[in-house]
Amino acid sequence: MTQILSSAPIKKKISKDLKNECKFLIENGIHPYLKVILIGNNPASLIYTASKKKFCERIGAKCDIIALSEDIDQLTFLKTIEEINQDSNVQGCIIQLPLPKHLSHLDVGKLISQEKDIDGFHPDNLYAVLSNHESTDHFVSCTPKGIITLLLENNIEIANKRVAIIGRSMIVGKPLACLFTNHDATVTLCHSKTLNIREITKECDIIVSAVGIANMVDESFISSKKNQVVIDVGMNTDTEGLLCGDVDFEKVKDLVLAITPVPGGVGPMTIISLAQNLLQASKNRLSL
Ligand code: GUN
Repeated sequence: MTQILSSAPIKKKISKDLKNECKFLIENGIHPYLKVILIGNNPASLIYTASKKKFCERIGAKCDIIALSEDIDQLTFLKTIEEINQDSNVQGCIIQLPLPKHLSHLDVGKLISQEKDIDGFHPDNLYAVLSNHESTDHFVSCTPKGIITLLLENNIEIANKRVAIIGRSMIVGKPLACLFTNHDATVTLCHSKTLNIREITKECDIIVSAVGIANMVDESFISSKKNQVVIDVGMNTDTEGLLCGDVDFEKVKDLVLAITPVPGGVGPMTIISLAQNLLQASKNRLSL
């Protein structure tokens, strides 16, 4: 039987720990507080940010969504971030991506101060991952961190495994390639220009898809040995407007050892990682 890698049992277990940690922090004078900057009305961003707020509140943390209009000018946008950087009551801040076109030239990772960058996009946070010098002072990007947690919690070995990642984004593909490498896996980072991609994915033990193309990964990417783990990062809508992943779940599920569902797989793991990072950023304040 194929193992369905649902996030639900992990969410239940980790939520309990996070609630206790949050209570401890509040008792010690720090109420974890996240500010989410949301620009415009991107439907996926509206859903993601609402889920982030809901989970923060569920564990006892505070979360405000700062909703800015789609056509906000650059100066006002930067001023909003600077005010949050200066606000000692706020321990974590994220800017929900994508940014509107007129702001997309900005290096978003450099805008939020490193100690509040719980998305792990700041150059110092990325460097800690790149150099395998992770510490409690640094934050790992939430989706990559969530994927590693999902595998470890399901006792899926990473060391010495061959991993194919499809998608080379700054948010998922690149940091995830580093994390897997730090865990002693051997990684092939594939993308839209990769030749013979199916030959690569068929050879790997773990396949991660983070391309954002509905149902792209079908049986032609999968080995016939039924020995692979498939992780689906995609949150797409299919031709009927229904939520679906990058992986054609129905075509692939019986051909693999384990697979994440969409929804209920990687998405909630991203949010759990964000909450973990928020509490870490808050704990870092205790020692100041
Ligand atoms: N948009 C899609 N995923 C993410 C994420 O993990 N963080 C932010 N800030 N924006 C996103």
